Amino acid sequence: MSTTENRAEFGSKIGFILSAAGSAVGLGNIWKFPGKAYACGGGAFLIIYLIIVALVGTTVMMAEFTIGRKTHKNAVGALRELNNKFAWIGGLGVLTGFIILSYYCQVGGWAMYYIVAYITDVATVWADPMAYFLNMLGANGFPLAALAWGLVFLALTAFIITHGTAGIEKMSTILMPVLFVLLIGLMIRSCTLPGADEGLSYMLHVDFSTINGTAILTALGQAFFSLSLGMGVMMTYASYLSSDDNLVSNTAIVCTLDTLVALFAGFMIIPAVFATGIAPGMGGAFGFATLAGVFMAIPGGQFIGMLFYFLLFFAAITSSTSILEGCTAFLVEEKGTERKKTILVLCVVLYIIGVLYTLSQAYMNIKGIWISREGLQFPIFGDFLEYLTDRLLLPLGAFFTTLFVGWIWGPDNSIEEATSYGKYKFTLAPAYKFIVKFIDPIAIGAIIVAGMVFGMSIS
Ligand code: PFF
Repeated sequence: MSTTENRAEFGSKIGFILSAAGSAVGLGNIWKFPGKAYACGGGAFLIIYLIIVALVGTTVMMAEFTIGRKTHKNAVGALRELNNKFAWIGGLGVLTGFIILSYYCQVGGWAMYYIVAYITDVATVWADPMAYFLNMLGANGFPLAALAWGLVFLALTAFIITHGTAGIEKMSTILMPVLFVLLIGLMIRSCTLPGADEGLSYMLHVDFSTINGTAILTALGQAFFSLSLGMGVMMTYASYLSSDDNLVSNTAIVCTLDTLVALFAGFMIIPAVFATGIAPGMGGAFGFATLAGVFMAIPGGQFIGMLFYFLLFFAAITSSTSILEGCTAFLVEEKGTERKKTILVLCVVLYIIGVLYTLSQAYMNIKGIWISREGLQFPIFGDFLEYLTDRLLLPLGAFFTTLFVGWIWGPDNSIEEATSYGKYKFTLAPAYKFIVKFIDPIAIGAIIVAGMVFGMSIS
């Protein structure tokens, strides 16, 4: 880590790319994407998703990168420096990230729980995968172990970022390549299982009649979540970049890596699900209970399952650190708080919300404290947090960011910053200008409104 005016910087170009890709590649790619792709129609959903990433995802990411790098400040400070009436856009992002992190660390903890379960007690997991998953979450008593693993995961996240960008960079440089190798290995294994071709054709068959408003909203929310957009995290990371890094190519590389990982995860999970004839459940159970059925049915499943949860854990920790860094940078730089104390206080509050998230999955239901999933009148707390962030706050954050860059700061300033004042080529600059000014706000705005007017069924 080198320092300019007492502010950390990434030590190398590749360190930044792997850290930003580490933030983007996470539970969203491996835990959320395959289930959504399955539920929203396979091939047609993939196409919608790719179009959204190519048009909206890349341009919002470039907008965030340029705001961060221009100002070398956290999300709130950056917006304030460019136009002090709009610092609240950064604040909205930090708040969204904070809410996401509260449950993200819990799911990261579940992944660690499953690593241990696959090593020490796989027979019990496989005896009844859904019962095992629900027991972990408290269907038969207080879920102490799951909560403890959530705490371990949060503590690890905090520990890594006490070392600032140096910790993040070191971790990402080691874990991201390992993650890629593991993922490709698992995907090849899955696609070569007998019967996998049915799953492959489901993922490759395009039938647009499966696409409705919910599917498009799902794809948009998923794209923002997956690319870590709308939360000021990419602004914060880019603020640690030196002024002559090429933001055009960085945007392209990070978006491509993230999307490849989501696709690989889809092609790792869906063919295996078809090959083993397991009905793919949705939501949180997908990555845990459903996949247990898959691992159980394939040769070497215990080892492969363990590798999968390591993969999930690596993906999660390189993302959770980025969100905590975004929140910490805001408080330290804007409120003048001390870094370690800030991290500690943030973690205490995060953990309290996270405990409620895990308890709301099963324990509160059996205790009758919370409304149950059956006859869903009001979403349970966990679903509610995901609704709020994926369907509303993330798209809103991205919506205001593009309005800000398109109409207040100006796309020309953003393009100058992206190309380091003409040092790098940006052939698509006119397209970027047009999309960030018109397409992004209109498309994102329309989808947010449609989601609110026509209801938001979670998928
Ligand atoms: N992009 C991460 C994922 O796909 O799991 C999640 C995430 C990281 C969301 C960082 C938001 C964020 F700021």
